[in-house]
Amino acid sequence: MAHNVIDVPAAELERQKKIMNRMAEHTAALPETPLAMVDTYGCQQNEADSEKIRGMLHEMGYRFTDNEYEADLIVINTCAVREHAEMRALGNVGALVHAKRAKPGQLIALCGCMVTQEQMAKKVKTSYPHVDLVFGTHELYRFPELLEKTVKPHKGRIFEVRQIDGERFEGLPSYRIHDVKAWLSVMYGCNNFCSYCIVPYVRGRERSRNAQNVIDEARQIIDAGYKEITLLGQNVNSYGKDLDEGRDFAYLIEEINKIPGEFVIRFMTSHPKDATQRLFDTLANCEKAERHIHLPFQSGSSRVLQAMNRRYTREQYIALVEAARRTIPGVAITSDVIVGFPGETEEEFNETLSLVEQLRFDMLFTFIYSPRHGTPAAQMPDPFTRAEKQVWFDRLLDAQSRISAETQAAHVGKEYRVLIDGKNSSNGKLTARTSCNRLVHLNEPETLIGTFQNVRITNSTTWSLEGELI
Ligand code: SAH
Ligand code: SF4
Ligand code: F3S
Repeated sequence: MAHNVIDVPAAELERQKKIMNRMAEHTAALPETPLAMVDTYGCQQNEADSEKIRGMLHEMGYRFTDNEYEADLIVINTCAVREHAEMRALGNVGALVHAKRAKPGQLIALCGCMVTQEQMAKKVKTSYPHVDLVFGTHELYRFPELLEKTVKPHKGRIFEVRQIDGERFEGLPSYRIHDVKAWLSVMYGCNNFCSYCIVPYVRGRERSRNAQNVIDEARQIIDAGYKEITLLGQNVNSYGKDLDEGRDFAYLIEEINKIPGEFVIRFMTSHPKDATQRLFDTLANCEKAERHIHLPFQSGSSRVLQAMNRRYTREQYIALVEAARRTIPGVAITSDVIVGFPGETEEEFNETLSLVEQLRFDMLFTFIYSPRHGTPAAQMPDPFTRAEKQVWFDRLLDAQSRISAETQAAHVGKEYRVLIDGKNSSNGKLTARTSCNRLVHLNEPETLIGTFQNVRITNSTTWSLEGELI
């Protein structure tokens, strides 16, 4: 039994399923099959939630479109992690006024992390009157009920956003848009309260899924023909700590690795404070586990790390990366970093730069600090201007571009087994990933999508490799 986790009662999920059936009868009686467009911002967790929304819509008789002028229903799944993500979503929601004018009766729904913040739900209510339905991250399983209310003639718009610790549920359908890769959430929420971050406020407390449910879903995904499973959580390394089932994240990898078939297991994100030697050993021993760890460090200064509430020091982080590299030969380490945390000095920024030079990440996702409403960091004195932070940011980007180009070039001439996972729409080449999650472009026919192939690397750029089949 779970300790602190509250499950959505089975009867409540049954009720939602009945509503889906009722909605399916409703849509079947319409003169034309209704079309839905689901647009997703933010991280893979949001992508996974959007697959659930599509799954529910599919059962309710909707089909899908990418064209907002054609859609009877538009669902925008929003992100709140930085101001930029919110501005983009709001800008696009604002522009939907035109689509709605051109298609009377069109319904617009907003969900996800941004609108789970009280002040943002209010802002949508007052400033975006063409939005019909708003529901928070904790209302996902109630989508059938909320959509039914929205579709039926009713008085007024629907806003359902609870600020709660969050619940777990199983059994809602997913409609996956990729053919080759599938997301699999192993846990929801976050308990870490890094002082800059909004996620714990909008996603609730950490809730691990039952291990057997995760493994069963992995088996279904593989049986359905997917070749890549990405295990998702804000901090997968603390998987299972909230349950008393004695299962950790390494156990999940071991068990999924045992499932017969040709596929790869990826995962994200790992928090350094919970990464263990046992995890590294497991990755080294499980042949289907990728040789890649995304391990965000956020800052190279122990003083800033403490102010961020990250609960590790620069030295501990470096030791962890060294242990991973020792245990898993050839492992790729990628990371996230924030520039310009409130009160960060130039000397402290230089410590970030020196850590990047020392550890030579395979890839680095760099962000300028963005104050988030209600987080402790938003209250801290922040003496440096955006323009000053931008100068540091550019220095970091230059350093990483050089390092990435050098580390990528080191692969030219080498041979790897890759999974061909899609096609690049801009250059028409096939995209493939090595076990270290490096992107390889191939000039090959589309029929190879979804297959594993051996390739030789012929060329490299800063962010990708070129290869040919061998
Ligand atoms: N759970 C993951 C991170 C999820 S958010 C982890 O802890 O590793 C993804 C990244 O966004 C973070 O790693 C961080 O680098 C960045 N980020 C989060 N909040 C931010 C903020 N307020 N300003 C700028 N970047 C932020
Ligand atoms: Fe945010 Fe920290 Fe949780 Fe990651 S671990 S989601 S950065 S609070
Ligand atoms: Fe954004 Fe929510 Fe993910 S804030 S990064 S979509 S958990």
